[in-house]
Amino acid sequence: MRVLVTGGAGYIGSHTLLELMAQGHEVCVLDNYSNAVPEVLTRVRALSNGAIMDFAGDVRDPAMLDQVMQAFQPEAVIHFAGLKAVGESTEKPLYYYDVNVGGTLALLHAMERAGCKRLIFSSSATVYGEPVYLPYDEAHPTNPTSVYGQSKLMAERILTDWAAAFPDRTAVLLRYFNPVGAHASAQIGEDPKDIPNNLMPFIAQVAVGKRDFLQIFGDDYDTPDGTGQRDYIHVVDLARAHVAAVTYAEGATGARPFNIGTGQSYSVRDMVAAFERACGKPIPTKQAPRRAGDIAAMQADASRAAAELNWAASHDLDDMTASTWAWQSKNPDGYKGA
Ligand code: WQD
Repeated sequence: MRVLVTGGAGYIGSHTLLELMAQGHEVCVLDNYSNAVPEVLTRVRALSNGAIMDFAGDVRDPAMLDQVMQAFQPEAVIHFAGLKAVGESTEKPLYYYDVNVGGTLALLHAMERAGCKRLIFSSSATVYGEPVYLPYDEAHPTNPTSVYGQSKLMAERILTDWAAAFPDRTAVLLRYFNPVGAHASAQIGEDPKDIPNNLMPFIAQVAVGKRDFLQIFGDDYDTPDGTGQRDYIHVVDLARAHVAAVTYAEGATGARPFNIGTGQSYSVRDMVAAFERACGKPIPTKQAPRRAGDIAAMQADASRAAAELNWAASHDLDDMTASTWAWQSKNPDGYKGA
């Protein structure tokens, strides 16, 4: 199929391009490069020898969207383009709602003008908020505790109502847990713009000498070692879930959420120890207070994705840490060194 990938130059988008092309799909990228650089597509092209049509532009721009729709005529859209920093979302709510909700609305209007009826949406397990029970299944109450999570849930609501209003629209809502890792080539990977918010890239920057130590946010959670537990998923497994969702969307209508996680959670200390095994050196840490908004533990029940998308994660913790280390050690300054 012809698949438009908004935000396709980003961390998850770039890995998804490779998996889509490996399955014979034609791809087109729309990215405003607010959190990516053109070098990413240069590397994806080198890794795939595939033709990638690409446009530099904003998903909120109707004229740009119409230009892309007319040129590529997508049969499906994977919508990654969005903002994802939890802390920043609280400081800049209007920006987050404008991009994450307004951008989704603008994209749907453009899809309607172009007759494109399938959308795979980059959602997040953050929509669940504090767990009422674990592991989270898709029926778990949704009560996000951040503007970021609210913006994702609002977009899910819009997509659900859009898909219900017409008999042949499809919205696949992929609720990611914690994406980590990098492509086996070590040519593409996660490259945060500023100081990493997330655990894995921060550990990797400590390992490569860019940071002196890792702060461990909280050691008094109700978990076996007191540190936060998360369901980390290898980015290649996550990318493959999007390819499975495109196949599902060819034969299904309506809106449906899917948890995309492994069902296995690890603590901060587990991740530090795993990374030390991967890089062969100690990761200095310092104990710090809990981070505002953090919850103790998250874990996915991904059985619906297994049953209906015919998808399950296959990479383990050592794959996640080894691939991250390979990427970071070969690209100490991320894409900036290119
Ligand atoms: C993981 C654990 C921290 C950094 C967020 C978003 C989620 C998704 C992934 C977009 C927690 C601890 C972290 C550090 C630490 N983003 N930690 N020191 O917060 O689970 O999820 O990013 O889709 O939607 O909510 O991920 O990697 O920031 O934190 O101790 O320097 O690591 O307290 O327990 P999080 P994270």
